[in-house]
Amino acid sequence: MLLDTFGRVATDLRVSLTDRCNLRCSYCMPPEGLEWLPKPELLTDEEVARLVRIGVTQLGITEVRYTGGEPLLRRGIAGIVAATTALEPRPQVSLTTNGIGLERLAGPLAEAGLDRVNVSLDTLDRATFKRLAHRDRLDDVLKGMAAAQAAGLTPVKVNAVLMRGINDHEAAPLLRFCLERGYLLRFIEQMPLDAQHGWTRENMITADEILDLLGAEFALAPDELADRGSAPAESFAVAGHERDGRPATVGVIGSVTRPFCGACDRVRLTADGQIRNCLFATDESNLRDAMRAGASDAELAERWRAAVRGKRAGHGIDDPSFLQPARPMSAIGG
Ligand code: 5AD
Ligand code: SF4
Repeated sequence: MLLDTFGRVATDLRVSLTDRCNLRCSYCMPPEGLEWLPKPELLTDEEVARLVRIGVTQLGITEVRYTGGEPLLRRGIAGIVAATTALEPRPQVSLTTNGIGLERLAGPLAEAGLDRVNVSLDTLDRATFKRLAHRDRLDDVLKGMAAAQAAGLTPVKVNAVLMRGINDHEAAPLLRFCLERGYLLRFIEQMPLDAQHGWTRENMITADEILDLLGAEFALAPDELADRGSAPAESFAVAGHERDGRPATVGVIGSVTRPFCGACDRVRLTADGQIRNCLFATDESNLRDAMRAGASDAELAERWRAAVRGKRAGHGIDDPSFLQPARPMSAIGG
């Protein structure tokens, strides 16, 4: 088990497959991009598969989510997914993507056993998308979402980040769009994880504000059926709407103002083979170099356990001493 000193057990592994991306969302990357990790530092497909196997078969990982950067830029993605779904006990396997490339890859990924996708979508307006992501790719994203649904990668979850004065007028339209198509929308408070360090508390649209914006058009009620458990999203039923014969829901993830660190069950593996016990961790444990120096599965598992044991109680964004992690989100993995 991956147990920390606060009694939390990590069962949900997020694996970043690349720090590269074909978008430049302003809450993540500067328009000119970043200096990418050099190829030799990245785990190979086989190294990723080995560490994931250790996590699943020896450390109690039950859920594996592949992220980036943009994980669909990784050529071996379908093979990595297939190796993961072949494990015993079989973990749940999902992917967080910006949707570009899904139109082509949804079918092969479903065949590899992928269970679900999360697609990031912050706006339905082409000009706003261009302004926000610095690329004119809204159409590709929408086609990718439809392809994921058609391939049975359901429920298609949609992540949206609202930014003041940019897309905060789109909360209700985004929900309308997702309800019509049977996508499960979740709004995420913007976190201080951008490479440019441009995050400010004033510009963050808070969970309370999101609920107010949605309330102007929809009647929301706490979702009685949802057990929040370790799920960061607070779920709300949308009156008058159904999905699969149940009340339709919308999620609000108040990462900053309603932190869920106390119930966190996540651990992260970066594309260059570092275990991070928190998005906001300031240190990492280098499994890649240990592996390349010949460490056994048991030795790697022990290093991994030690890395999780040292997890802090919370992210401390509200502490005066809070330090943004040196790595941006794209190099950690959502
Ligand atoms: N704050 C909140 N969410 C973010 N994401 C990326 N950067 C941030 C941030 N600074 C989201 C993306 C994607 C998921 C991996 O995390 O929109 O959906
Ligand atoms: Fe790319 Fe995701 Fe960062 Fe946007 S948030 S630039 S899609 S890695």
